[in-house]
Amino acid sequence: MSWGMENRLSRIIRPDGHTLMLAVDHGYFMGPTTGLEALGETVNPLLPYGDSLMLTRGALRQYISPQLDTPIIMRVSGGTSILNKNLLHEGITVSMEDAIRLNATAVAFSILVGAEFERDTLLAFTQVVDEAERYGIPTLAVTAVGKALVRDAKYLSLASRMAAELGARIVKTYYCENFERVINTCPVPVVIAGGKKIPEHDALTLAYNAIRSGAAGVAMGRNIFQSEAPVAMIRTVRAIVHDGINDAEAKEMYEEIKNA
Ligand code: 5RP
Repeated sequence: MSWGMENRLSRIIRPDGHTLMLAVDHGYFMGPTTGLEALGETVNPLLPYGDSLMLTRGALRQYISPQLDTPIIMRVSGGTSILNKNLLHEGITVSMEDAIRLNATAVAFSILVGAEFERDTLLAFTQVVDEAERYGIPTLAVTAVGKALVRDAKYLSLASRMAAELGARIVKTYYCENFERVINTCPVPVVIAGGKKIPEHDALTLAYNAIRSGAAGVAMGRNIFQSEAPVAMIRTVRAIVHDGINDAEAKEMYEEIKNA
């Protein structure tokens, strides 16, 4: 692995082997997602607590100060909206040149294993991997899941392992029952997405279960920025990821910070 690749990976996955990614890239297919209408106002108070910030180039340019010290994971896939029945039939939306110009530390691309159009997403993904590797930039594969697909260990281990074998340096997937199977069969670090907003205590349990099962971390968006107390939420998720607190401790911590 080149020095540049190692350095970038170590800025994302911290020396304890864990990472908290603050994901705010939803606008590229969901538009002005609840909580991100004025993205900068939501994200700025959360920045001190995330190890990295996952977003689009447009959001980075328009809402985030260039003085930012947090590593950027740039979303480089897209092409369909929530109105499209072929949602997630994504292609490359950002050239590697522009990702570098914007000082991305990593790039993120969604693949959709099992969709009729899976081949398109997988081949575009490998094109991104080839380009990114040339410059020592890690590619994070997002294992997107269509409505017709089941988020179980069998499917998610298939998609995660494929992503790693096709060149991902980090895989983002969903937590599921028997998640250890996904972790044990994927040769690169795995992080989980938070998914749709759920009650805060349930989201904390989700993060805890993922870390306990061997996930390297959490890439969480809506369950942080749509929370009734986003700073309390991100600080507590951070403590699960990096300080090893359990879910009961996390719930207590969240309530304490929220009510302070
Ligand atoms: C959107 C994404 C998000 O970054 C990812 O799903 C994490 O956000 P959330 O916790 O809200 O699911 O990849 O396509």
